[in-house]
Amino acid sequence: MSDDDAGAVPPGTDVEELRALARSLAREAGALVREGRPARVEVAATKSSAVDPVTAMDRASEELLRTRLAAERPDDAILGEEGDDVPGTSGLTWVLDPIDGTVNYLYGVSSYAVSVAVVAGPPDPERWTALAGCVHSVVDGRTWTAARGGGAERDGRALRVSAPPSLAQSLVGTGFGYAAERRARQAEVLAEVLPRVRDIRRLGAAAIDLCLVAEGALDLYYERGINAWDVAAGGLVAAEAGAWVGGLRGRGPSSTMTVAGAVPVVAELVALLEDAGADGREGVTRS
Ligand code: IPD
Repeated sequence: MSDDDAGAVPPGTDVEELRALARSLAREAGALVREGRPARVEVAATKSSAVDPVTAMDRASEELLRTRLAAERPDDAILGEEGDDVPGTSGLTWVLDPIDGTVNYLYGVSSYAVSVAVVAGPPDPERWTALAGCVHSVVDGRTWTAARGGGAERDGRALRVSAPPSLAQSLVGTGFGYAAERRARQAEVLAEVLPRVRDIRRLGAAAIDLCLVAEGALDLYYERGINAWDVAAGGLVAAEAGAWVGGLRGRGPSSTMTVAGAVPVVAELVALLEDAGADGREGVTRS
């Protein structure tokens, strides 16, 4: 496959069928996470830092998703947060976050979700073509889906982004990484953003944040350091609801920076983040 057709959609792909499968998988895993939550959740392991937890349920939810996909879509690849990459032959990759918002799940704070998406091309948000996705909020059952060119909806209601008059009147979602050095830099950027917006929300699940942008419950969202599985489904939901989803300095959404929100106000946030050097070297305070 050449770079030009890296995100090419295989002929015969039915994005509505993929949306339906993403929805049913996310709901089934969501039921497992909801019904299987013990009174006291234990940390099974840590990942990128001591405050980046994995629970037994992250693994069980991903195992369920992988088992279902192996049966229903054996030719597709899988990229999941908690397991090894599975290669495929179809040109499609399922991008899975078995629990987005694991810290909320651990503490019993209600914002956590199962996120299931399918993309064409390389499993890299800057290069893929997202085809379909579902974000299922585990505690309250809200379910957002999108299909490429087919719009975004939540539980049957079509979604449209908000139209804030200015950045100054925008409610902005964001999040922080798990590494201390990254957080120190994110705090500096936040100090530039906070005085210039209506307010900030840090809800703790990037996939839900992006869906809230889609339905106008957040005007804008930005975050450095999110992974492919955090953005795959929610990014498509936001884009299909009319949001611009991208990065800084002409780049696409990536772990360096992902920004989402309604045009034209999102451009004000992008300019502010560029000026703040939000995509710059970490561990170095801007002079
Ligand atoms: C995290 C959440 C959080 C975001 C972090 C992500 P996880 O995902 O989406 O909101 O701020 O950057 O890593 O670890 O709970 O799957």
